[in-house]
Amino acid sequence: SVTTFLLPIGAYLLGSIPFGIVLTRLGGAGDLRQIGSGNIGATNVLRTGRKGLAAATLLLDGGKGAAAVLIAQMVQPDMALWAGAAAFIGHLYPVWLKFDGGKGVATMLGISLAAWWPAGVAFAVVWLAMLALTRRSSVGGLSGAVAAPIAAAAGGQPDAVLVMLGMALFVVWKHRGNITRLLDGTEPRVGER
Ligand code: G3P
Repeated sequence: SVTTFLLPIGAYLLGSIPFGIVLTRLGGAGDLRQIGSGNIGATNVLRTGRKGLAAATLLLDGGKGAAAVLIAQMVQPDMALWAGAAAFIGHLYPVWLKFDGGKGVATMLGISLAAWWPAGVAFAVVWLAMLALTRRSSVGGLSGAVAAPIAAAAGGQPDAVLVMLGMALFVVWKHRGNITRLLDGTEPRVGER
């Protein structure tokens, strides 16, 4: 049916809204691309010193991923995971930013919670634990993203394993600069420049 085409396109467009850039500009906190890592995510919004804007970015970037899945669940349930994947690709490769978007942690968390909540909970728990242990946002996000497909596998959810493993690989690829800095010992603590 027509939703088979419209759902992924709509999800991509929803995912491609760069809330970090929009909120930072609306909040009068500057051009996010010129701040810190230049990334569009909540971690970089935090480097403006505006905790509220960072929290809102985390919520909205996660919320758009969850919304894509939940809308698909109502319209065409067999497309739910793939609508999530389309929103995820929208966040990482938004047409509005010449396909140079975010790193996918918040959006993948929202998708995971909506698609198969135990994987989302595993993501969130591992993310927060590793963030608390290392104080590096990238370590938390990377660890959480890898935990989600493992949880899906443990729970016998083969479709979720496939999509979440794919998303985790993209998250790792997008963090290659962070991984280099971690290995060099130059990755800043969360909240630091
Ligand atoms: O999800 C992004 C976060 O893990 C790292 O962000 O700005 O430190 O590269 P940033």
